[in-house]
Amino acid sequence: MARDGAVYACQSCGAVHAKWAGQCTACGAWNTLVEESTARPPGALAPARGAKGRGLAFEGLESLSTTQPRIVTGVAEFDRVCGGGVVPGSAILLAGDPGVGKSTLLLQVCAQAARRGAACAYISGEEAVEQIRARAHRMGMADAPVKLAAETALRDIVEALKREAFDLVVIDSIQTLWSDAHEAGPGSVTQVRACAGELVRLAKRRGVAVVLVGHVTKDGQIAGPRVVEHMVDAVLAFEGERGYPFRILRGAKNRFGATDEIGVFEMGDAGLSEVKNPSSLFLNEGGERAAGAAVFAGIEGSRPVLVEFQALVAPSVYGTPRRTVVGWDGGRLAMVMAVLEARCGLGFASRDVYLNVAGGLRISEPAADLAAAAALASSALDAALPQECVVFGEISLSGDIRPVSRMEARLKEAAKLGFSRALAPVGAGGGPGVTVTGVARLAEAISRIGDQAWD
Ligand code: TYD
Ligand code: MG
Repeated sequence: MARDGAVYACQSCGAVHAKWAGQCTACGAWNTLVEESTARPPGALAPARGAKGRGLAFEGLESLSTTQPRIVTGVAEFDRVCGGGVVPGSAILLAGDPGVGKSTLLLQVCAQAARRGAACAYISGEEAVEQIRARAHRMGMADAPVKLAAETALRDIVEALKREAFDLVVIDSIQTLWSDAHEAGPGSVTQVRACAGELVRLAKRRGVAVVLVGHVTKDGQIAGPRVVEHMVDAVLAFEGERGYPFRILRGAKNRFGATDEIGVFEMGDAGLSEVKNPSSLFLNEGGERAAGAAVFAGIEGSRPVLVEFQALVAPSVYGTPRRTVVGWDGGRLAMVMAVLEARCGLGFASRDVYLNVAGGLRISEPAADLAAAAALASSALDAALPQECVVFGEISLSGDIRPVSRMEARLKEAAKLGFSRALAPVGAGGGPGVTVTGVARLAEAISRIGDQAWD
């Protein structure tokens, strides 16, 4: 039995259990239950019986017109993902793997915003002020009037934010904060939830924009900070593949803007630089396009992005063939392979299949179906697509190619980057400089690849 005032909280999903167990029954994670105290904070009184609330002071909708304008930080890619700047009084969670560059990004955001006149504070619980200063020097931002502090005690941070009026405050990271009103250790669900709750309330009350940094665990879940997701106004994910310099900022939730917007950065010696034309990054330049490669004309948020899909279909040496996919959805790959087998007679039994999206980008659009199928067929049939060809289109289970959104924009971007041909759904029209080979059925697209018949 649990002791009085003790419960067991799952550190992965936040579910609370009365008894300890090896596995959380809510999310299925193992060894994540940790004892937490439900005791009232020292000094807090029990609510009196029959106590009444104070009532609410209602306001009208029209007061919206008097809200402050957004804080445009000057880091354009960051501003765009936020929906055109940071909304005063909002709370943002920036989540990402350790080492992906969250601290670097937010220091740059603070420095740029401060240079443009915003009052910015950067509070770190992970690095000493001297370390942060050294990094700012290296990035050429030593002159920016950012106020730095190294602190983990929530009480002191809250007091500081009450005393001084800031426009933008960065807390790096939420897992290092510690509130003395709770007994659980820093990083526990109780502490993370309590500290985030207090900071979000403070942000709303004082009109300060607060950015909280949250580290993600290896399995891709934001442990701890997951419980923060519903408290904040926006959740931004900062992603990057190890070994690639590219970093992608993605809106996962945003009360003040679109969530499909991405920001692209490149990590260099002097911090992160913004990438204005991402297509040029994700394309494998130079040389003949090999069999198994297909250039997908995609749309990420409001921008068209060209990216190469690479497939390898090889005889399997194991009983169960391997299916490995990087940068795309495994379930979607299984579906495309099933349609290729059933509708086009392209078999994958006893063959290993590898699919990779070049450059470390993650694609989630259904419009990529045809590009993936083309790459797979090209490798299986050992027939390369034309060098100057882009591919897009959604595949249905019946083997039809469906039109997708913003086909004109995709073709325009392709033309801009020197592509003159597109394998696309019927009705994609033709952009200036791009000849479209319209296909209504997947089988037709595959036989064109196999026969190298493009005209
Ligand atoms: P950091 O911002 O500390 O990551 P996070 O806060 O997400 O844990 O970034 C750390 C990595 O970035 C580290 O591996 C070094 C690299 N880096 C550069 O390559 N160039 C730079 O100018 C900076 C500041 C960091
Ligand atoms: Mg950091």
